[in-house]
Amino acid sequence: MTENFARSEDPVVITRGLTKRFGDFVAVDSFDLEVSAGSVVSLLGPNGAGKTTIVRMLATLSEPSGGTASVCGYDVVRDADAVRSVLSLTGQFAALEDNLTARENLLLMARLRGYSKGAASRIVEGLIERFDIGEFRDKLVKSVSGGQRRRVDLAASLVVQPKILVLDEPTTGLDPRSRQVVWSTIRDLVGEGVTLFLTTQYLEEADALADHIVLIDHGRATAAGTPNDLKARIGDQRVDIIAVDLESLDKLTAKLSGGFSVAVSRDQRMISIPAPNELSDLRAVTAALSDDGALVDEIALRRPTLDDAFLALTGQPSHPTNDTTEQEEVRA
Ligand SMILES: Nc1ncnc2c1ncn2[C@@H]1O[C@H](COP(=O)(O)OP(=O)(O)OP(=O)(O)O)[C@@H](O)[C@H]1O
Ligand SMILES: [Mg+2]
Repeated sequence: MTENFARSEDPVVITRGLTKRFGDFVAVDSFDLEVSAGSVVSLLGPNGAGKTTIVRMLATLSEPSGGTASVCGYDVVRDADAVRSVLSLTGQFAALEDNLTARENLLLMARLRGYSKGAASRIVEGLIERFDIGEFRDKLVKSVSGGQRRRVDLAASLVVQPKILVLDEPTTGLDPRSRQVVWSTIRDLVGEGVTLFLTTQYLEEADALADHIVLIDHGRATAAGTPNDLKARIGDQRVDIIAVDLESLDKLTAKLSGGFSVAVSRDQRMISIPAPNELSDLRAVTAALSDDGALVDEIALRRPTLDDAFLALTGQPSHPTNDTTEQEEVRA
């Protein structure tokens, strides 16, 4: 898969040195990317990393300060109309009419796209079913929950199926069930040949959906690869055991270090054991913890987080901040 991406035989999105400055502040710094047709690329980064700024430039909503970006061969500045005809963006903040119902919003979108009344209503019924909107279809958008609103917003961006769908944090704020609905829709779309570019703050989401992940922080790509490449570098999931006190920690360490590769943090009173085989590893660890007075406060199977990824791949923690002063200090 890496090879496939690296060759990018058929890139539909290309950026070269893409840069965005707001005054003196560099929000996106020489960003290079190629997205192959039919693939899912995920831009993964913390708050303020520059994700929205990049997708806004791709969607022609904001002009680059430097470098170039093209979508299906169309330049985002010179051929903005053509770009808009092949790319659809679902923004991070829903752009819906508050005083219309969910269904009316979708109908409006379909009519604006030029569909007749009959065709628009057929398309909207399909979207209502696909995104599980039925229950609140006739509620004013201003009175639905954030997650419900997000689903309407996603549906609105699929009134016409685009060649390239850009989703800016499609599942932030969604409950687990709604997140699954969005994930399965994304997989369906990929099956139908849509190229997807999505941003997320969740490593788990990028892992679940993407063929290629670009880690971004302070406007710069800091690492890239397939989920497997990156996971191999970040490390697998692990079992974390937190001892009640240091005495217990020492007893547990002595007991477990015989059979497992343990990493001990005395500050956190925590022992970490790699668990590539998830549940069977978890069971083996718990089986080894027979009682001899060592007290365990917590035992859990944990997957790597965005912070783990940044630490492992860049040697730096991510800095979830929007404070530009701090970002500049960090960079200097
Ligand atoms: N219009 C603007 N004027 C000035 N600074 C801006 C503007 N838009 C974004 N920025 C700054 O650019 C940086 C990147 O912002 P961006 O919205 O792209 O981050 P993000 O990765 O989308 O973050 P989040 O996960 O919070 O959505 C931030 O430091 C932000 O404050
Ligand atoms: Mg954003």
